[in-house]
Amino acid sequence: MKTLLITGGAGFIGSHVVRLFVNKYPGYRVVNLDKLTYAGNLANLKDVENLPHYSFVRGDIVDGDFVQKLFEEHRFEGVIHLAAESHVDRSISNPTEFVFTNVIGTVNLLNAARHIWKEHPEGKLFYHVSTDEVYGSLGEEGFFTEETRYDPHSPYSASKASSDHFVRAYHDTFGLPVVLSNCSNNYGAYQFPEKLLPLFIHNIRNNKPLPVYGKGENIRDWLWVEDHARAIDVIFHRGTPGETYNIGGHNEWKNIDLIRLMCRIMDRKLGRGEGTSEKLITYVKDRAGHDLRYAIDSSKLQRELGWTPSLQFEEGLEKTIDWYLNNEEWLAHVTSGDYLKYYEEQYVKR
Ligand code: NAD
Ligand code: DAU
Repeated sequence: MKTLLITGGAGFIGSHVVRLFVNKYPGYRVVNLDKLTYAGNLANLKDVENLPHYSFVRGDIVDGDFVQKLFEEHRFEGVIHLAAESHVDRSISNPTEFVFTNVIGTVNLLNAARHIWKEHPEGKLFYHVSTDEVYGSLGEEGFFTEETRYDPHSPYSASKASSDHFVRAYHDTFGLPVVLSNCSNNYGAYQFPEKLLPLFIHNIRNNKPLPVYGKGENIRDWLWVEDHARAIDVIFHRGTPGETYNIGGHNEWKNIDLIRLMCRIMDRKLGRGEGTSEKLITYVKDRAGHDLRYAIDSSKLQRELGWTPSLQFEEGLEKTIDWYLNNEEWLAHVTSGDYLKYYEEQYVKR
């Protein structure tokens, strides 16, 4: 039985990765390590929490001694590392937290893996999950490839870029078997409602303003989260150690066009007159250092490992909106307490 560590498994993408792995690989023992920050929620994993080959450990990857002991206790053979501070706006108001978790936390995991795998690295793998934001911002043309030079602009992307460099450095210096992927914007169920899609679905539902940064002209490349989890599965099992794979949906949307589409779909679903929800659009001060355009070239992953996105965007968006409308209890639970304080600071006191 293979023992696998998934970090950040109570978060948005991590919970989809845990679900896929425990359902698809009953022969693996999956340990989910998560600190349960505001973004981590065990309710995301209710359907798998009692499976005998799954277990949850609450802990902080910034605590090096704790991480080392956990590796010694479980003798993990594979690591899929997703735990991170992930929201760009929070990285602008509190950059240091991002250095601790994203950089030091990653180095602690690398040290522990290096320590327990040093005699027998064969068959082991440290998979680092990263973002397209490390590549910076594109103009109107072109795509990010695996060769694109790193050019991060936000404290979030700078911390992820730094962690990527450490992962590659441990491969080149210590021979640690690693693989990396850099993915575009994910959407789907269980995303914390500070991010564009769930926040705007929630606000449209509740007739609250839709705070569009700048002119809404920034472009993002959207991928259904379950397709990201499928890509992680394929890369973990068939990717070449030392390599990087870009993951993306070839699905670029200007923010304002996407928001208008969401408004139209929700007017229909909520039985509102056409154009009702668009009136909620409110242009607010732009995000500092706001990258204009992200677009991923995922041809390496498609060519070498045969992965392709499974879902058309319009279908995925409908499914996603339905999920949030049908899971208001989940939303109410995660939007209480600390989140309300954050929301007020981010959008009201500007
Ligand atoms: P998320 O914020 O939803 O989840 C992060 C999880 O990490 C949470 O469960 C949180 O509790 C946990 N965590 C945070 N700090 C921790 C610590 N110190 N110790 C242990 N656990 C900790 O993030 P997400 O959107 O699911 O992103 C997951 C990963 O994927 C991140 O590494 C992110 O950079 C990357 N990524 C995200 C996207 C996206 O669109 N969301 C796209 C590409 C890559
Ligand atoms: O590209 C991958 C990245 O995608 C991940 O690495 C990050 O973890 C993830 O958070 C996401 O980053 P973005 O900054 O692109 O996502 P966000 O949902 O915060 O914003 C999407 C776009 O919408 C961006 O151009 C900013 C804009 N926006 C966002 C919010 C929250 C608004 O106009 N208003 C808002 O209130």
